[in-house]
Amino acid sequence: MINSLVICFAVLSVAFFRFDPGLAEAQQAPARAPAVAPVGAPVGAPARAPRSSPPGDEKWDKVKVGYWPSYASQMFPASDLSTDVYTHLCFAFANVNSTTFRVEIPVETMDVAREFTSLAKSKNPLIKTLVSIGGAGANTTVFSQMASSSSSRGEFVRSSISLARTYGFDGIDVDWEFPHSAADMTNIASLFSELRQQIDSEAQSTYRSRLLLTAAVYYSNMARDPSIPGMRYEYPVQTMARTLDWANIMCYDYHGTWEPSLTGEHSALTDLSSNLSSSYGIQSWLDGGLPPHKAVMGLAAYGRSWLLANSSLDHGVGAAARGPGPAMPGGSAETGVLFYSEIQEFIRSKNATVVDDSETSSAYAFAGDLWVGFDNQASIEKKVEFLKSKEMRGFFFWTASFDSGAVLTTTGKFFLALFIHSM
Ligand SMILES: *[C@@H]1O[C@H](CO)[C@@H](O)[C@H](O)[C@H]1NC(C)=O
Ligand SMILES: *[C@@H]1O[C@H](CO)[C@@H](O)[C@H](O)[C@H]1NC(C)=O
Ligand SMILES: *[C@@H]1O[C@H](CO)[C@@H](O)[C@H](O)[C@H]1NC(C)=O
Ligand SMILES: *[C@@H]1O[C@H](CO)[C@@H](O)[C@H](O)[C@H]1NC(C)=O
Ligand SMILES: *[C@@H]1O[C@H](CO)[C@@H](O)[C@H](O)[C@H]1NC(C)=O
Repeated sequence: MINSLVICFAVLSVAFFRFDPGLAEAQQAPARAPAVAPVGAPVGAPARAPRSSPPGDEKWDKVKVGYWPSYASQMFPASDLSTDVYTHLCFAFANVNSTTFRVEIPVETMDVAREFTSLAKSKNPLIKTLVSIGGAGANTTVFSQMASSSSSRGEFVRSSISLARTYGFDGIDVDWEFPHSAADMTNIASLFSELRQQIDSEAQSTYRSRLLLTAAVYYSNMARDPSIPGMRYEYPVQTMARTLDWANIMCYDYHGTWEPSLTGEHSALTDLSSNLSSSYGIQSWLDGGLPPHKAVMGLAAYGRSWLLANSSLDHGVGAAARGPGPAMPGGSAETGVLFYSEIQEFIRSKNATVVDDSETSSAYAFAGDLWVGFDNQASIEKKVEFLKSKEMRGFFFWTASFDSGAVLTTTGKFFLALFIHSM
């Protein structure tokens, strides 16, 4: 039981790159996550938040989203979530049934899904919950098939709205990782338009608050085709700007186990030598036409680790490595991945050296031959300053649970609130 939980967790936990590492230009696949803006407001008018939005006197209410890994609820019970840090929590994940194309909560997590929505509200009555559909562990072919015909999209749309209402979610977060062909991009535009239509008409006919609609997307607006090196397809950004409350941009997993011989900052804000950075990715979305108030920046509450080739010789970013760091049983249990909570424990127990890397706006820590690149409070502060400078809507964390003690999320909340009126 414990073992199967851990295995399942490892498979789904982080943003692994199922896409063929080893490509020279390893443009990975950041993983999962997040959701709310008023859609459909008159062009040019600051949309007013729907009836039940969180309080805020800024032009746009800022969002602070946390994903909750429901598949690991035994390790991270929902009751442990620091709900006051967030405006929105996403339940990760619901699935798309490969024969019916209906959205379903896995049988194993049906009970925790029911508990989750009511527990979140009882801890913080203002919080909104969303059901995230898909994730890094989901089969991208099933999404492609679902999106390819109007009848299967209809099944997805109807069943996701009905599921959200049945379980008491306030919104739907489409987490297809990733559309990767011209047809996928055309079809995902139809999917978003149809979801928007049906969500609006459901709210009108039932007199209920409109469900939120968000999507978790690749770090740049050009998703890559893993089977054809160099091939990229642009998301339907204009349609997304019209239909989504916002997009959760997955700004992480730029480096990892698929590059075993060099250490790297997987969530670098800037990178002088490549386009694998959050500043590049976010700018591509904004240049592509995603309005900044619909852009939400992903932050990682986990790091990626390597074994240094020679720790006395070289231990910086890009140092020679002899492979990814080992899986730590009882934690992430995934090779080359450490949760923020595990990194803190590593630093304490091994008296690891911690360095703030100004070139990438990230941190790294090493002791013995183990090296891990991650975000700490100082780098979260820089990233939040960045997203504010771009007038973005807010941030999300993958995941709320990996940040035990809510250290990073509280830092993010604090810096997002600072000087907000100057924006
Ligand atoms: C998909 O739906 C069919 C029909 O309802 C059901 O028999 C099947 O078990 C579902 N698949 C999964 C993986 O849940
Ligand atoms: C993904 O789904 C497709 C279509 O249902 C199926 O053929 C394929 O085997 C699935 N892949 C995995 C890894 O489950
Ligand atoms: C980075 O992206 C730009 C276009 O945005 C492109 O011209 C350039 O070649 C890319 N650089 C690398 C190293 O891939
Ligand atoms: C590591 O580098 C140091 C300094 O150059 C060298 O003395 C040592 O032999 C190296 N260790 C290994 C295992 O290569
Ligand atoms: C921890 O490491 C620092 C140098 O990084 C050293 O000065 C200190 O003595 C170490 N403390 C312990 C308890 O090993």
